[in-house]
Amino acid sequence: MTQSRKVYLVGTGSGDPELLTVKALRLIQNANVVIYDRLVSEAILKLIPTGASRIYVGKISGKHSLPQDEINQLLLTLADTERTIVRLKGGDPFVFGRGSEEALLLSRNGIKFEIVPGITAASACTAYAGIPLTHRGLAHGVQIVTGHAQANQPLELDWSALADKNKTIVIYMGLANISLICNKLILAGLDDNTPAAAIQNGTTARQQSVLSTLSRLAVDTKNAMLQPPVIFVIGQVVSLANSLDWFEAEEIQDYCSSETGIISHG
Ligand SMILES: C[S@@+](CC[C@H](N)C(=O)[O-])C[C@H]1O[C@@H](n2cnc3c(N)ncnc32)[C@H](O)[C@@H]1O
Repeated sequence: MTQSRKVYLVGTGSGDPELLTVKALRLIQNANVVIYDRLVSEAILKLIPTGASRIYVGKISGKHSLPQDEINQLLLTLADTERTIVRLKGGDPFVFGRGSEEALLLSRNGIKFEIVPGITAASACTAYAGIPLTHRGLAHGVQIVTGHAQANQPLELDWSALADKNKTIVIYMGLANISLICNKLILAGLDDNTPAAAIQNGTTARQQSVLSTLSRLAVDTKNAMLQPPVIFVIGQVVSLANSLDWFEAEEIQDYCSSETGIISHG
């Protein structure tokens, strides 16, 4: 019996391998070929069986990632020859992950696919920093945006909609523009004392959070010399981090001393 070929677009969560779904783990362990990019953690790559081919399509020190059209071509070529292709993406494939573009390509070419959601950075990094996205009386909604502008284009965000003191703002890919973003939010009416945080390498042994305010976030981030990946959180919920931080306060020590990169609980 011939088994049909399929491409699985799989979210791996934000770094801690224990945030993988059971489905993602099963697919990785049964893959013929695994394609992955920069944000897929080393601990997760260790789960790929030795017999499976691995193809890296992320950024190589200073050089650009494999252009998306070349990744697309690679997927089509592999779909011709391999049975189970697992395309790993950090976080969730459908949140700033270009997973939908790859799924459209597969759909248009009549190639079977499945999407496996992963825990996105907005959810995982905030949980590990002790910041709830919503909290009764502090935030009744969340706005998730990218802080990255296309080359030579201004950052086009709806600043007045974003400057809502009753909603948490989560900014992906915002490191280069964080000063501009904070200034725009203040100009749009958000209080400059609004609690704000930057979280670097969330859910990993290298997690580092900086707690700040809207007016100081850019300078505090710069002084802490944070490097990508960094996610920013702005809103009253950030004030709970002092009470709810459980990871950097305690667990990260166990994580650093663990050989597997997996935190041992209890
Ligand atoms: C291209 S987007 C991919 C997002 C991914 N698909 C997700 O759902 O989390 C990359 C951005 O996600 C955020 N990010 C992803 N993983 C992170 C982590 N472990 N710590 C902090 N930020 C992270 C950063 O803002 C980074 O620049």
